[in-house]
Amino acid sequence: MAAFFANLRNTVIAGIVLAVIMFLIYLQMQGYDSNLFWRFLFRWLHVISGIMWIGLLWYFNFVSTPTMPKIPAELKPALGRYITPAALFWFRWGAMFTLVFGLLLAWSNDWSLKTYLVPVITIDASEGFVNPAFVSMGIAVWFALIMWFNVWFVIWPNQQKALNIDNRYPDLAQPQKDTAAKTAGMFSRINTMLSIPMLFGMVATAHLYGQI
Ligand code: HEM
Repeated sequence: MAAFFANLRNTVIAGIVLAVIMFLIYLQMQGYDSNLFWRFLFRWLHVISGIMWIGLLWYFNFVSTPTMPKIPAELKPALGRYITPAALFWFRWGAMFTLVFGLLLAWSNDWSLKTYLVPVITIDASEGFVNPAFVSMGIAVWFALIMWFNVWFVIWPNQQKALNIDNRYPDLAQPQKDTAAKTAGMFSRINTMLSIPMLFGMVATAHLYGQI
């Protein structure tokens, strides 16, 4: 038992098997509806990837950064050399898959870009009337897109410099590393702020406003 759970891959496979059993129970009770199935699959994968992303964002902001000053100097390098680069891998790919599944989910909501994704992205300014749920979703998606951009084009490149990840910046001077770390830290904080209203909009759209 302990040996089984010592292996992350086994643990994840076991989780997926349990989810498949839940799906089989659903099939037995409700029957298969391909439209619902794909929409649900994208929604589930979207939320799972989102948790990977925002979970690590909150780990950086709630755990790692505030604890850093308390770590003895000789132990600090372990974080920058091993833990943070590994966390950044799952963090940035979590962000990428959240975006991909979010877009697939938006498309699968009505299997057309025109009647869902366009009004969401334009915050419903494209039509003559305003649907409040599109406004809520539009704001949430724009916050999430800004956050995704910050991850891939600000936080990740600056962390690569600050921590010399994959030895891409072996000769960078300490002041430049410090500036890069500061920039990454500030945008990570901005994303933490945006994550709160972003999740409000994501969830409120279906559960506070009522389905679109
Ligand atoms: C990156 C850009 C993103 C896009 C394009 C996007 C798109 C969407 C769409 C279209 C929905 C379905 C809304 C509905 O049918 O009511 C949704 C729901 C949701 N999204 Fe996102 N999203 C993004 C980022 C995120 C992030 C970062 C998270 C963080 C966990 C997240 C979590 C959720 C949750 C929890 C729901 C609600 C699911 C439900 O109520 O059943 N999304 N998103």
